[in-house]
Amino acid sequence: MAVPYSCRLVSRRPSGYAPPVAGPRRAAKNQPAANGPRNTEAVAAAGGPSCRGHPDTGTCGAAKADFHSPASEVTPLDAQSPVPGTAAVREIDVDDLVLEDRVHRLLYTSPALFDAEMRRIFERTWVFVGHESEVSQPGDYLSTLVGRQPVILSRHADGSLHVLLNRCMHRGAVVCRAEHGNSTAFRCMYHGWVYDTRGDLIAVPFPGGYGPGFDQAALGLPRAPRIGTYRGFVFASLSPAGPSLEAHLGKAREYLDLILDAAPEGAIAVRSGVERYAYPANWKLQIENLLDGYHPNFTHQIAFEISERRRGVSGRKANSEGSGATARTFGPGHGVLHYSAVNRGYQGRDADQPEYRRLLEERLGKDRASEVLRADIQLFVFPNLFFQSARQHFRVVRPLAVDRTEVYAYPYTLGGAPEAMNRRQVRSLAWWASPAAFGQPDDLEAFVRCQEGLQVTAAEWVLFARGLHRERISADGEVTGDVTDEVPQRGIYREWKRLMHDARG
Ligand code: FES
Ligand SMILES: [Fe+2]
Repeated sequence: MAVPYSCRLVSRRPSGYAPPVAGPRRAAKNQPAANGPRNTEAVAAAGGPSCRGHPDTGTCGAAKADFHSPASEVTPLDAQSPVPGTAAVREIDVDDLVLEDRVHRLLYTSPALFDAEMRRIFERTWVFVGHESEVSQPGDYLSTLVGRQPVILSRHADGSLHVLLNRCMHRGAVVCRAEHGNSTAFRCMYHGWVYDTRGDLIAVPFPGGYGPGFDQAALGLPRAPRIGTYRGFVFASLSPAGPSLEAHLGKAREYLDLILDAAPEGAIAVRSGVERYAYPANWKLQIENLLDGYHPNFTHQIAFEISERRRGVSGRKANSEGSGATARTFGPGHGVLHYSAVNRGYQGRDADQPEYRRLLEERLGKDRASEVLRADIQLFVFPNLFFQSARQHFRVVRPLAVDRTEVYAYPYTLGGAPEAMNRRQVRSLAWWASPAAFGQPDDLEAFVRCQEGLQVTAAEWVLFARGLHRERISADGEVTGDVTDEVPQRGIYREWKRLMHDARG
């Protein structure tokens, strides 16, 4: 029997490789993988549908005043340094791995592709590093990762923000091991070199041992070449060149504004800790899932039943085909699940609503306040940042290895909102998305099962075909489908392919 969606796997030859066959989809029986190293396998796609060329909406007309670059000094990084494993990736044509309606299993299992992702995606594009409220005072800092590279977000004594590479210039130890804190300096624990909070090397033990040619001023911590902020969210790019943060965010700003305008004072604060979990599977399984409206009724069936028994409501109806909720993608890989047509947003759940609404109308006016109160959206900002207005938090997905991922979920409070309301929202996140909550563990179980299943070599493709035939494309390039359609996932992989196509690393 013909197996739909299967394609032919062939071994990569050093030369004379025939490109994938274009044309109408045809079913073909799976064939066993060719002998040879897995990372040099290549895929001949036996006729997937060709890309329809969705417009890239990566530019926008945002007010320049919303963006600023707190770090003025630029220390170019060695962007061309070799990374183990990338040579193997050059043997793989990413066009063979990502088609319009499917991606190859190697995206989840190949260590070489993981290495390439870190260099070509995470070390090039804009990556979220922290929120300004986490480093509000001089000397505040937090340590995090951009891809696999450890960085420090710090606020210097003069109030400036810096993203420093967390790597001692002596022999390479990280100089900051704490996740966050306040300090005037970072002292390396190995031989005691001391750097201030903007990265300058300010003290070296026994300096006489280095002789007259020692240039202490040249040995500051390397800085991220570019940093930028939008409404308190600090992003860094380890590439000195590329689209601006403004261009990268594009239309994501509109949705982010819709979420953040729920704060009567116009700003949120990250001050309620973090729900943190790790799972033994690929990072993309989590980012696919963040805007997957197809899975909740099945993966979270028990949680929905409990919620319906206790509270009379659940997400079952909103995540059913034809509910009126939509899945969207736009710009460079970003996307949204939009539930405002079927859910009631803040209007539906806060006893403090009259006072809250008054505060909001004071700042935004009646119409915009109504729009904000009605909003129920989930926003994904490529490559690893996610917002959920209904549970008032954002998440950061940290890839650690091809089969190891950490997720940090930060509840936030709305500046100026009634304290009881903020407390309820933080509890709501704990109820659903903590490591021992009703929702998130179901998803983690799914990720692990996918990682296990994707070890099977007899079936190569992971399908994102749902709703491809009924996508609607607006004038500004936003692609929309039913909430259960795999529209956002196709957007993610179009951008993944675009960035991975660049053979710099
Ligand atoms: S490695 Fe940092 S002082 Fe030696
Ligand atoms: Fe889920």
